[in-house]
Amino acid sequence: MALSDAENRIPRHIAIIMDGNGRWAKKRGLPRTAGHSAGAEAFRKIANYCRTLGVKYLTVYAFSTENWRRSEAEVSGIMKLLANYLAEALRDMEKNHVRFCFFGDLSRLSPDLQKLCRDAQERSSEYHEVQVNFCLNYGGRDEILRAIRAYARDVADGKKNPAELDESAFSDYLDSAGVPDPELVIRPSGEMRLSNFLPWQTVYSEFVFMDVLWPDFGPAELDAAIEEYLRRNRRFGGA
Ligand code: IPE
Ligand code: IPE
Ligand code: MG
Repeated sequence: MALSDAENRIPRHIAIIMDGNGRWAKKRGLPRTAGHSAGAEAFRKIANYCRTLGVKYLTVYAFSTENWRRSEAEVSGIMKLLANYLAEALRDMEKNHVRFCFFGDLSRLSPDLQKLCRDAQERSSEYHEVQVNFCLNYGGRDEILRAIRAYARDVADGKKNPAELDESAFSDYLDSAGVPDPELVIRPSGEMRLSNFLPWQTVYSEFVFMDVLWPDFGPAELDAAIEEYLRRNRRFGGA
């Protein structure tokens, strides 16, 4: 691909709202769950591709705090796919060298899925090629509220002084603590909204919205999004 001269400007952190699985399935007369399976396949390919590109952090929106509104069959289908994916990732850990982290309130997930998340996070903590942040039962407002509660507890315990709170100190209470903000946020499926994804972290991110549905998203689409990103003029409020 044509990015070699710009390789050093490849975003360090790419965040993706993996949207459009349901429409992909509907177009083919398949159940929505089939769309989610195809979406999981697209994720596998993109995670690998990010590793070869040298992207350091890949954050993916897999299940939002609002997605519980879907049918019980769809929710349990998604949870099963996640469990299968993590079990497979644990099996292939030494081969792929992917570091796994999880953003979101995992306490609402089944104990088995919580354990898979914990094991994946612990067993991959030494890998540094690419860090995949899975957003599971994630909502940006929920993340901020949980951070505020944790911070308030530290204030009540006398460990923190509100007069010293700044943006960087607050960021340490978020699920994304220690992870730089994403330079690039991609949303396939044609929708042009954040849907509660990383509101704190994306204030200066570049957004690329694409018409392709997530199961059809591959390396060529990621290349196109990165090329679009490289054409942007990022000013951060400067002149
Ligand atoms: C994204 O695809 C996957 C999840 C939200 C879990 P959707 O299931 O939202 O697909 P559409 O938007 O209905 O096509
Ligand atoms: C956002 O997609 C959540 C994920 C991709 C996991 P949704 O399909 O839930 O968002 P809305 O409902 O179109 O805003
Ligand atoms: Mg959707």
